[in-house]
Amino acid sequence: MVIFIYWSFLLFGLLPFVSAAGCLNDQKSALLSLKNDLTYDALVSTKLVGWNQSTSVECCDWGGVTCDESGHVTQLNLNKEGIRGPIPSAHNYWEGLKNLQYLNLAYNSLDGNIPKSLLINLLPSSLEDLDLSNNRLSGQIHNLFINVSSRLRNLDLSRNRLEGPLTEFILKLPATISTLALSANKFTGSVELDMMVAKFKELYALDLSYNHLTVYAKNNALPSMNTKLNSLMLASCKMQQIPDVRNQSTLKMLDLSYNELSGEIPNWIWESGNGYLRFLNLSHNRFSSLQKPYTFPFLLDVLDLHSNMLQGDIPVPPRRVYILDYSNNYFKSAIPVGFGNVLRSTLYFSISNSRVVGVIPQSITRNATSLRFLDLSRNALTGPIDPLIGNMKDLGSLDLSVNMLTGNIPGQLETGLTSLSFLNLSYNHLSGRIPQGSNFQKFTKLSFEGNEGLCGPPINKTCPHAHYAVVGA
Ligand SMILES: *[C@@H]1O[C@H](CO)[C@@H](O)[C@H](O)[C@H]1NC(C)=O
Ligand SMILES: *[C@@H]1O[C@H](CO)[C@@H](O)[C@H](O)[C@H]1NC(C)=O
Ligand SMILES: *[C@@H]1O[C@H](CO)[C@@H](O)[C@H](O)[C@H]1NC(C)=O
Ligand SMILES: *[C@@H]1O[C@H](CO)[C@@H](O)[C@H](O)[C@H]1NC(C)=O
Ligand SMILES: *[C@@H]1O[C@H](CO)[C@@H](O)[C@H](O)[C@H]1NC(C)=O
Ligand SMILES: *[C@@H]1O[C@H](CO)[C@@H](O)[C@H](O)[C@H]1NC(C)=O
Ligand SMILES: *[C@@H]1O[C@H](CO)[C@@H](O)[C@H](O)[C@H]1NC(C)=O
Repeated sequence: MVIFIYWSFLLFGLLPFVSAAGCLNDQKSALLSLKNDLTYDALVSTKLVGWNQSTSVECCDWGGVTCDESGHVTQLNLNKEGIRGPIPSAHNYWEGLKNLQYLNLAYNSLDGNIPKSLLINLLPSSLEDLDLSNNRLSGQIHNLFINVSSRLRNLDLSRNRLEGPLTEFILKLPATISTLALSANKFTGSVELDMMVAKFKELYALDLSYNHLTVYAKNNALPSMNTKLNSLMLASCKMQQIPDVRNQSTLKMLDLSYNELSGEIPNWIWESGNGYLRFLNLSHNRFSSLQKPYTFPFLLDVLDLHSNMLQGDIPVPPRRVYILDYSNNYFKSAIPVGFGNVLRSTLYFSISNSRVVGVIPQSITRNATSLRFLDLSRNALTGPIDPLIGNMKDLGSLDLSVNMLTGNIPGQLETGLTSLSFLNLSYNHLSGRIPQGSNFQKFTKLSFEGNEGLCGPPINKTCPHAHYAVVGA
């Protein structure tokens, strides 16, 4: 028993001393000279401000710093620190920090080129994860990424001003890359998607959106050797053909918005990811219809088909959909009667400006009661506004403007929709007195204009006295 306590004391009592080998002196001075060369906003910074030569806190415990057992800095996270100006380029600290596995300088205002000294010291060494996203970094980078170690897995350079031929850059990267986020830069050239998917066998997420690229798939179907691809973001990549992702069995997110895709949306797309697709954005293309027969994947929770040329039947979404955008199309048909019954957990639905005819189905006002945002504006909807719209208690924004709706504005719209902060009923054929309750006080005449028959504040038209109305009836 005594021996046991003795051993426990030794093990647990000594453990803190063993693990806290302490920050090595050279690591501390590398960090301090890096700090010395950085320009940052002391009011924004929460980590750098505390780095201090004379503080009793040892440098492995400084904000944003993580060390290994031997006291080498392995992680440096200085995101959102209000750092501006160029990334400091002296060799001494980047060489001193060669054990870094993780470096995050995202969400600052860094500008200028990515210094060669950083890349030359860190890329061939231990670096696994580099995040320089959301800065103002510029310049060509394909010649800077040399001798990159196969440890590099995650590279996020998105939202900068980097340029250069993308394919040449890709060729410099190791096959071990798992996340490659390069969106919203100025990379150029044409990129063969097959090559990317074949080269990066560990690829989990790829984002090439919003560059000056032309992305294309050489073969009909992308190679299926990649078994991890989860997210493929190719917005604004001048794609003319939809890449065949049906064999990407783990795909969950696909963004092909702002491309030059046309014709039918192939029905196999709903089977990609083995039927587990959760996010699909095909907005801003020229699709004209959905190839039949189709079955939406059960787990799809974001479906964005807005700004296409879809005609005919309005597709009934899967039941789990949270965000559904069908706006700016040419359906020329009515919303199916039971449509609202599948929108029970939907938060956002827009079918604005899509030539929708017929009435607003009661299934929406009665059963789509999770909706926070509903936009049916700029169509040819007829009939009255169902008083049960008062059920849609979470609704924050309702736009029914520019339709042919008739009848009164139901009082329930004012009394029931207590969360409503945006309302537009303008340019319909509504009539009668505008409800005067306190929930409507925040709306101006811009919410009601262009309805000949409406009267009462905030519209500058007094309602006829009751007996006039009776006489007129
Ligand atoms: C470092 O910390 C000491 C003690 O907390 C403080 O007096 C000193 O002003 C700090 N120096 C800098 C440069 O922040
Ligand atoms: C690449 O990096 C390794 C490891 O740091 C180094 O030994 C080798 O000399 C480098 N090669 C070139 C061409 O820089
Ligand atoms: C896609 O998967 C199917 C079924 O597993 C297989 O027959 C086909 O050859 C695959 N295609 C490609 C391009 O890998
Ligand atoms: C779909 O893509 C468009 C254009 O890239 C974008 O504006 C929109 O927000 C995306 N939709 C969703 C639901 O993320
Ligand atoms: C609303 O849902 C209920 C069942 O939950 C159903 O009985 C009813 O018919 C639906 N209302 C409309 C108008 O479809
Ligand atoms: C409602 O829609 C009309 C027509 O588009 C527009 O003129 C008006 O400004 C909108 N009202 C509000 C409150 O946005
Ligand atoms: C309201 O309408 C009357 C009569 O048409 C007009 O004289 C008056 O200037 C209008 N007031 C406002 C605030 O527009």
